Amino acid sequence: MSALFQRESKTPAIGVDLGSGFVKMAQFKEEKGSLRLVNFGILKVPEGAILEGRIEKPKEITEILKELISFHSFIGNRVVANVSGQLVTVKEIVMEDLPDNELYEAIKWEIERFLPFPLEKAVFDYQVLNEIVAQNGTKKLNVLVAAAPLDVIQLTSELLSIANLKPVALEVEPFSVLRLLRFTPGFGREENVLISAINIGHNYTSINMVDKMIVRFSRILPIGGKKITEAIAGNLGKSFEEAEETKIKQLNLGIENQVTKACLTLLNNLALEIKRSISYYFNKFNEGKSMNTVVLLEGGSANIKGIEGFIEDSVGYPTEVNRLFTSIATYDPTLFTKEYLHEMAPIFSVATGLALREYKPKVSPRKGKAATQEEQVKTFLTYKKG
Ligand SMILES: Nc1ncnc2c1ncn2[C@@H]1O[C@H](COP(=O)(O)OP(=O)(O)OP(=O)(O)O)[C@@H](O)[C@H]1O
Ligand SMILES: [Mg+2]
Repeated sequence: MSALFQRESKTPAIGVDLGSGFVKMAQFKEEKGSLRLVNFGILKVPEGAILEGRIEKPKEITEILKELISFHSFIGNRVVANVSGQLVTVKEIVMEDLPDNELYEAIKWEIERFLPFPLEKAVFDYQVLNEIVAQNGTKKLNVLVAAAPLDVIQLTSELLSIANLKPVALEVEPFSVLRLLRFTPGFGREENVLISAINIGHNYTSINMVDKMIVRFSRILPIGGKKITEAIAGNLGKSFEEAEETKIKQLNLGIENQVTKACLTLLNNLALEIKRSISYYFNKFNEGKSMNTVVLLEGGSANIKGIEGFIEDSVGYPTEVNRLFTSIATYDPTLFTKEYLHEMAPIFSVATGLALREYKPKVSPRKGKAATQEEQVKTFLTYKKG
């Protein structure tokens, strides 16, 4: 029998999700041909310590990383971390069919036009998604580009090293989101189902359109759990801390009460942006035709009670919370309770995707297209030192 997973590394990588609200770590190991959860941990980030994917308070974040590592028995110190924020750009572009060395140069010129910062201050990488043949027979290439500010990449990498961690790779969030989906048999593999994966975090919401297992469109909104807490605080005259507690304990979007009312405008805006992004996708990528679509919510704010029903009603597509964290691996029930894992699942989806980077899911029996797509999304933004 062939092995389910191929491991390329010495010790399994620890996924480190450097969120602006919480740092999350998760690790899995291969055991008897399947994955087993080694451990996972979460610590709060002081307000303003990570902004726009930039670590503004390196000392505090180093301490958090050290604390997480020393409190949870992870294996080794190899890590895969993420870079996020609005300065991270993920975009699909159409290029001439050029030889590799010329394509690299041509992409450089192309991305300079839309990067929000100078090219010499960026790290970028690309993957050719597929070839397009125009009616006149000329070939073009669909290319997915990811770029992030060089200083963000360097600082993150240095900081991980200071915390005695070995960064194996840094990658952009949409790809960790995607990887977790690829590990879930059956999920999203159906042809023509568009997955709109929405990560509602603390400061940001990222919207990722996954079509046939390719992230084809990504955008980041400056809306998240922090704004929801602020809305509760502002409208109900509470401190931020009180409002945060109220949000966790009392907010239920299935019930009409004062707390729900306090954040309704914000959540309606969020739903509207999700709806707009889906329509934009149909127009731009599917000749204006609608597709079967599933909205998949993740991130800490996906734990807001009743959010699935609220988004489903407002956006008009079936919506569920991404709790795949609990279904991709086995775990020791004496260490983790089912209920706790269920609650933590949406919060840990990115850390899980990062941790899975060096494992390969069993490729589906469908030949050709599926296998190529698996390959296409394999690697993305890797920081090569020096
Ligand atoms: N049970 C819950 N109910 C409501 N909100 C919750 C719950 N649990 C966590 N949150 C909220 O989720 C947010 C944190 O989520 P997450 O850890 O995904 O954010 P992050 O990755 O740190 O932030 P970002 O991705 O925006 O940088 C916080 O605003 C927190 O209040
Ligand atoms: Mg996040």
